Amino acid sequence: LPNPLEEAKRSAAYRAVDENLDFFNHKVIGIGSGSTVVYVAERIGQYLKDENYSKYVSKFICISTGFQSKRLILDNGLNFGVVEQYPDIDIAFDGADEVDENLQLIKGGGACLFQEKLISTSAKKFIVVADHRKKSPKNLCTNWTNGIPIEVVPSAYVRVKNDLLNKLNAKNVNIRQGGSFKAGPIVTDNNNFIIDVNFNGIINNPKQLHSEIKSLIGVVETGLFIDNAMKAYFGNSDGTVELQE
Ligand code: A5P
Repeated sequence: LPNPLEEAKRSAAYRAVDENLDFFNHKVIGIGSGSTVVYVAERIGQYLKDENYSKYVSKFICISTGFQSKRLILDNGLNFGVVEQYPDIDIAFDGADEVDENLQLIKGGGACLFQEKLISTSAKKFIVVADHRKKSPKNLCTNWTNGIPIEVVPSAYVRVKNDLLNKLNAKNVNIRQGGSFKAGPIVTDNNNFIIDVNFNGIINNPKQLHSEIKSLIGVVETGLFIDNAMKAYFGNSDGTVELQE
């Protein structure tokens, strides 16, 4: 039996690829991280096997945002490239943890936020794919209650934690833990830690908050993606898709 949430994710991803991938003019494609973008890679892989599109897709170079994303590219038979060699990306697809009414995003639920931001901000077009739960009625941190993910240099985590609490008046600050699979903090693909920070409720000015967090010593990047996404596709369990742009 189809799983309704997977249906929602697949519908959003397939629609986003079908409507935005330009087989003739796009060459370098960013592939994000998480459970929704799996279907983006799957869809591009389907076009690679389609005799009408194969000659175009076989020339694409796909750039990953981390280990999982690299596997998606390889497992779907797509060409893998690195951003150092292809710094100008034509289009990038990625998931999100929350999308507000102005297309500002929270990302990093899967701990890949630095490379995701490197790729999404290097792309001419950045398209978000998500299930219906990710759409906020208005502000960020309405539905997403885990806080804002921040990637930090390990030796600076205490300093960043204290600065978030004392300088930026954070309500609580958690060093993300590996849980039953790892004693101690999780380590990102860049060998850093993730801090999840909560402020008092909804975020009214994500742009300002991003700058304030980013200016703290030890912060590599924040999970607030500001003025970056061009469109978001939200899938529903019945296969319908809502476009926000
Ligand atoms: C990874 O760090 C995240 O930014 C993901 O893109 C985000 O968490 C969305 O993931 P899902 O598609 O699994 O919801």
